[in-house]
Amino acid sequence: MTTAGDGGISVVGFAELSATTVRARLLDAHDRFWDVETRALHDPVWFHQFGGFGALARSSTGEDVGYVLGAVTADRLAHLHLLAVRDDHRGTSLGRQLCGWFDGLATSTGARVVQTVVRPDDAAALAFHTALGAGAHLSRDHAGPGADRVVLTRFLALG
Ligand SMILES: CC(C)(COP(=O)(O)OP(=O)(O)OC[C@H]1O[C@@H](n2cnc3c(N)ncnc32)[C@H](O)[C@@H]1OP(=O)(O)O)[C@@H](O)C(=O)NCCC(=O)NCCS
Repeated sequence: MTTAGDGGISVVGFAELSATTVRARLLDAHDRFWDVETRALHDPVWFHQFGGFGALARSSTGEDVGYVLGAVTADRLAHLHLLAVRDDHRGTSLGRQLCGWFDGLATSTGARVVQTVVRPDDAAALAFHTALGAGAHLSRDHAGPGADRVVLTRFLALG
């Protein structure tokens, strides 16, 4: 599924792309997308097995400028695993556009809730998801002893 938005940005489902090639390109450009180390979170399974729920945003010149990875579980929970916008495209609603793409696909597969998990000190992610209407819940020891996380939950509009 491909959608075209403002500013010549196209959002292309990973299903239409080579998982191996796109993953390698995104990891090469890691520091343009992330302020902290996240390479270990880019396990190949998110591209090869769950890639059908992921999408890449490309500029009019074909550059990778954003991406989203996730999956819908059997109990109709849409888990948004990673979302990133390249540093020179932030604040242009591209993050919102990528979430909208993921929401649309998740809703079409029966999901009713979208959830993402972030570190409590990740102010940008907390502000972003709250701006999109997510509620925040502190989950103590979520990722192990002393590793608290914030679970952000947003209800999806029925299609
Ligand atoms: C977080 C991130 C994805 C936001 O993408 P973006 O394209 O810049 O966000 P948008 O322009 O779509 O903004 C959508 C809303 O979130 C808010 N927002 C986005 N980033 C924000 C920030 N750093 N601080 C405060 N609010 C922010 C915007 O103000 C906007 O709200 P509004 O529509 O009410 O004005 C982007 O900053 C990023 O890739 N950061 C590095 C990777 C990362 O931390 N990812 C974690 C996301 S789970």
